[in-house]
Amino acid sequence: MDKPSAQQAIISNRHAWDQSARLHKETDTWKGLLDAVVHPGFTCLDPTITRLLQAVGVAGKDVVQLGCNNGRESLSLFSLGARSVVGIDQSVAFLQQARELADLSPHSPQFIESDIHHLPESLLGQFDVALVTIGVLNWMPDVTQFLRHVASTLKPGGTLVMYETHPFLEVFDPKAANPFLPASSYFQRDPFVLQESIVYEGQGAQTGPTSYWFVHTLGSVVSGAVAAGLQVGHLQEYAHCNREELYEQYEHQPAQLPLCFTLTATKGMD
Ligand SMILES: C[S@@+](CC[C@H](N)C(=O)[O-])C[C@H]1O[C@@H](n2cnc3c(N)ncnc32)[C@H](O)[C@@H]1O
Repeated sequence: MDKPSAQQAIISNRHAWDQSARLHKETDTWKGLLDAVVHPGFTCLDPTITRLLQAVGVAGKDVVQLGCNNGRESLSLFSLGARSVVGIDQSVAFLQQARELADLSPHSPQFIESDIHHLPESLLGQFDVALVTIGVLNWMPDVTQFLRHVASTLKPGGTLVMYETHPFLEVFDPKAANPFLPASSYFQRDPFVLQESIVYEGQGAQTGPTSYWFVHTLGSVVSGAVAAGLQVGHLQEYAHCNREELYEQYEHQPAQLPLCFTLTATKGMD
């Protein structure tokens, strides 16, 4: 298979997420969200990202989440006192779910359908905090370009807050006979080509449309933030799993791998 262009990969990924959306509505998680989001203090954010967002300060701030999926995390930002929240995603099917949740919630986030690489001008320079969470980075063909677009949404002095899966995990295949044996290069440039539905929570993935998953080293993420004009203020790696259940087997090991990381980076005041 020929290597896709960045734009082809982004379009394929959008199609794959749209096609997978109905599977997410069949989960207990979705049913739980329908009940939970009616509460003003609803949050699905774990203690790691909650503490970091509190430290950065979200109360009274205008926040954007890039790659918001079904909006559950965008809605959670109100529990930390956000003044306004905008969620951006290129999957129209997931944004429908986000609007369904928002209709049940007492809060009023705005959800906008857009590829992060082609943001509407009205979003540029508007936000105090830009949030990027679990499972967004690896869909991006070029991490520096991605971070430039993320940075473009920030006001001067605004802060990117990232909570992502650790790129070193990409070296391992959790379904392999020996899941602890390195299976691919940390420095792999070509994307993994996936041909299955995109699901979490141990649902059996079904054969589905092609999507592209890119590995970005931790160094390239930090360098990308710097190239985007951001000053890195915090980078921390953790031993807990923040992704699919399949990866929980890497927790609590005597020779522990890094499983996730948080990063903050702030735009200059000009
Ligand atoms: C794994 S989900 C994020 C899940 C979220 N952290 C949560 O826990 O609810 C990744 C999202 O990124 C979105 N995405 C991928 N590439 C994108 C792009 N180029 N522009 C906008 N959204 C994109 C997908 O549509 C998907 O909804």
